[in-house]
Amino acid sequence: MMQESTDHLKRIARQHLETDRLLGVDFVPIKTTPPEPVAVTHEIEVTGPPGPAATAAQPRAAASLFQAVAPAQSVPQRSPQEKADALESLRTRHDETCSHCTTATAHTQTVFGEGAPDAELMFIGEAPGEQEDRTGRPFVGRAGRKLDEIIQAMGLARPDVYIANVLKSRPPANRTPLPSEVEQCAAFLAEQIRIIQPKVIVGLGGPAVKWLLGTNVGITRLRGQWDTFTDAEVSVPVMPTFHPAYLLRNYTPDTRGKVWSDMQQVMAYLQPASK
Ligand code: URA
Repeated sequence: MMQESTDHLKRIARQHLETDRLLGVDFVPIKTTPPEPVAVTHEIEVTGPPGPAATAAQPRAAASLFQAVAPAQSVPQRSPQEKADALESLRTRHDETCSHCTTATAHTQTVFGEGAPDAELMFIGEAPGEQEDRTGRPFVGRAGRKLDEIIQAMGLARPDVYIANVLKSRPPANRTPLPSEVEQCAAFLAEQIRIIQPKVIVGLGGPAVKWLLGTNVGITRLRGQWDTFTDAEVSVPVMPTFHPAYLLRNYTPDTRGKVWSDMQQVMAYLQPASK
C-alpha cells in the first residue's frame, strides 16, 4: 500500500518533470485549480443531475462531478474483443456507406481512427490532414507528434487511448469541415463512441468540440470546463481543449499552460478510477 502510493507520487513527479520539458511550462502545479468560472450559455440538454456547463459557476472536483451523471442507458456491455470486432465492422460499413466519404474527392483513403477498443480516454480531432490521408492513421503529422507528447506527458502511450476525428476523409486543402459534411460523417463517430464507451473524451479544437457539445460557442470560452457528450445511448464527460495545431501556432507559456491544465483535469478524473 505504502509502496503503491510512493510509486504513484514518483510517477506524478516524473510526469511533472517530463511535462515541463515537453510543454516548456515554467511551473505546473500538481493539484488542479478550477479555472475562473465562465458563464457558458449554449443549448446542451443535460438529463439527470446538473451538468458541468450548469455547474461552471460553482466548480467542483471533476471526479465527483461526473459520478452522478446518468450511466449509459441501453448500450450493450462488450468485451475488448467484441468492441474491436464491432469497430471493424463499423469501419467497413462506414467505408461502404458514408454519404460524405463515398462521394468526397479530395482524399486518397479514409482515416477511421485507431487505438485501444476499450480505451478510457478518447481524443477527437477535426479531420485528417495530408499525412493522415497518406498513411490512413489519425494525428501522425506535426500536430500528431505534439499530441503524442501530450499523451506521454499524461503518463500514457498512444496505444492506451483511442484517437479519431469528426470527419474520416481529408477535406480539400485541409479546409474546415462543412456542416453538411459533419452531419453525414459524424454519425459514424457517434457510433464509435457508443462502442468504445470511453470514460472521458478530450475534444481537440473548435470543430470537434462544436460537434461533441452541439454548440457554436468558441473553443476559447469552452476549454478547461467539463461538459458532456450525450446522445440517446451514452453520456460521456468531455474536456474541451485547444487543437495541437493551434498549440503549435501559438506556442506560448500561456497556451501550453492552458492545455496542460486541461489535461491535468482529465488525469485527476481518470487516475482514482484507474488505480
Ligand atoms: N488534425 C486533426 O484534427 N486530425 C488529424 O488526424 C490530424 C490533424
